[in-house]
This record gives sequence, C-alpha cells and structure tokens, in this order.
Amino acid sequence: MMEKDVYILAIESSCDETAAAVVRNGRDVLSNVIFSQIELHKLYGGVVPEIASRKHIEKINQVIEAALSEAGMTLDEMTAIAVTYGPGLVGALLVGVAEAKAIAFAKKKPLIGVHHIEGHISANYIENKQLEPPFACLVVSGGHTHLVIVKDYGEYEIVGRTRDDAAGEAFDKVARAIGLGYPGGPKIDKLSKEGNPDAISFPRAKVENAEYDFSFSGLKSAVLNYLNSCEMKGEEVNRADVAASFQKAVIDVLAEHALHAVKEYGFTKLAIAGGVASNSSLRERFQKECALRKIEFYYPSPVLCTDNAAMIGAAAYYEYKKGVRSGFDLNAVPGLKLGER
Ligand code: KG4
Ligand code: ZN
Repeated sequence: MMEKDVYILAIESSCDETAAAVVRNGRDVLSNVIFSQIELHKLYGGVVPEIASRKHIEKINQVIEAALSEAGMTLDEMTAIAVTYGPGLVGALLVGVAEAKAIAFAKKKPLIGVHHIEGHISANYIENKQLEPPFACLVVSGGHTHLVIVKDYGEYEIVGRTRDDAAGEAFDKVARAIGLGYPGGPKIDKLSKEGNPDAISFPRAKVENAEYDFSFSGLKSAVLNYLNSCEMKGEEVNRADVAASFQKAVIDVLAEHALHAVKEYGFTKLAIAGGVASNSSLRERFQKECALRKIEFYYPSPVLCTDNAAMIGAAAYYEYKKGVRSGFDLNAVPGLKLGER
C-alpha cells in the first residue's frame, strides 16, 4: 500500500526572519516564504529583540498565507503544524509558538516543536534526496558553532562546540570593526574576493584537551589589535586584506576540525549547515578538501543555509514519523539543547 503523503506547515521566528513553508514528506518544498527583517535591524548594527518580536507578530499571518497560497494548499490539507521552539530569542520564538499552537488547536492538527539547529542540519535533506544518516555535520551560524555526528534522524551527538563566539558572530564583529555594517558575513565574503588571504597572519586557536572545540574570540581580538596598531602608526588599512585574512583563519580551523572528525569517526559523508555555510570561500575549500579525500560533501543552497522554515518542515517530518508530538502547553525554550525535548 502506498503511504499517504505528509504535508507539514512549518513556522520559524527564532531570530530576525519571519518564515513559513509547506514541505511534503520532509524533502519536497512546495513553498518557502521568508520575510527578512535585516533592513530594520541594520540601523542598530544588530538584531534588537524587542523590535524583532513586534515585526514577527505583524508579519506572521501574511507569511503563512503566502506559504499556503504558493503551495496551492489550505490549512485543512496540512497533516501537521511544526514550529521552532528553541533556541533563539524568547520573544521572537513565542510569536511562532503561539501561532502554531493556535492553528493546531483550531484545526485539530498534530503540533511538532522543532529544535532550530536540527532544522539547519535537515536543510541538507531537501536538495540531496539520497542523503541519509549517519554523517558528520558542521553547523556554523550566528549563534552556534557545532560539530555534530548525525547518528540517525533526530539523533545527534555534539563532538565539538565553540567556547566563546560563534563563527557567524565573529564575522559580524569583525565586519563592524572594519566598517562594513550588519550582517557582516555576506559583506566579508564579498570584500574578501578583492583581498589577499595570506596578507596578514591571524591566529588559528586550538582548545586544549578538546580537539574538536573552537574558539574565535582570540582571532577577533587579533583583528582589532591589528586595526589599532595600524591606526597608531598612521598606516592605511587594506580592508579587503583584513577581511580575506580573517576569513581564511576561520575557514582553516573549521575545515581542519571537520575533516579530522570525519576521518577519526570513519564517516564517508560531511555536510555543512547554518548561515556561515553559505560563505563562498568556505564552500570552495570544503569541496576541494573533500574531493581530495573522497568524502561526499553536502551543502544546502544559500537560501536554505540562513534561517528559513523549509528546514524546520524537513526536520519535523522525521520527528512526525517517529511519533513525536508536542502538547498544547508547548513553550519557547531560548536555551534548548540539541537532542533535548
Ligand atoms: O543561520 P543564521 O541565518 O542565523 C542563526 O541561526 O544564527 O546565520 C546568520 C549568520 C550571521 O552571523 C551572518 O553574518 C552569517 O550567518 N552569514 C555569513 C554569510 N552569510 C550569512 N557568514 C559568512 N559568509 C556568508 N556568506
Ligand atoms: Zn539559524
């Protein structure tokens, strides 16, 4: 007997993107609508939580309506309603959670709370139909830097994490220091193409007794010190060289740790996820290194790397299949750990 198709309406509002998507059977994206608040937060040089929550509440119904209409479907045709319930900004999360609960309650649909990072990892399933666990995944976003072993759908082991700044956070802070504005990642990516990545030698930090852990705060300080010393000496700063050299230092460490883990754990597959995974230089580097080592390399399109709801719908499908359901008492959990419920 053919199994019935599973249609999930997924909602994501953990940070500064109000997003909704309709996903069929975890892998087919029928719509993926994203309202980005970046323009609004640019003025302040970063995300202002209060403003983010207010914008989510204003936009969420329109975004859901657009997602359903692009998919050519109605709420009644949805199998389940999924929503990011952590980690993230509490007020921002609450908007999505309250919305999903209201829809699930009114339409008598199952509700599935999804972990944001599980969503980022699951973005890889959408365009790589053949990808199945187990594999290693490097999750690099504005709030997280995790080296994760995906043992099975919904089963994760974090083998490495950042001790201080997340990779994306380092990009954003360095971008601000060289006057590029928010969000810094894409701007550093672009400017780096005009710079020499070997012009300035910035540190590649190791964490003692934790070979897969990361630390980016020393690198950020080294960039700030470099900028200061140029200013003191009255030397002009080549911003493209700073961007390219900083970016290379980050990518070196990410690549080294990820490739080492793949080898030590005996995997043949490596995936990347999160906003920083859309970095063009990082993608090229991983592609090259994986090809040399005969490792299958997986990465989502840039639009599926940064925050979106399609990835939440992909993750929710596998939770749904396992029988995971959230109660109507589902709450936002800003510090939710991966693998926790
Ligand atoms: O995954 P994401 O959209 O949100 C979080 O869950 O944090 O990631 C946003 C982060 C920001 O720090 C942004 O600067 C960074 O991803 N980012 C990039 C690029 N595009 C976005 N970093 C480096 N290169 C990029 N092309
Ligand atoms: Zn994210």
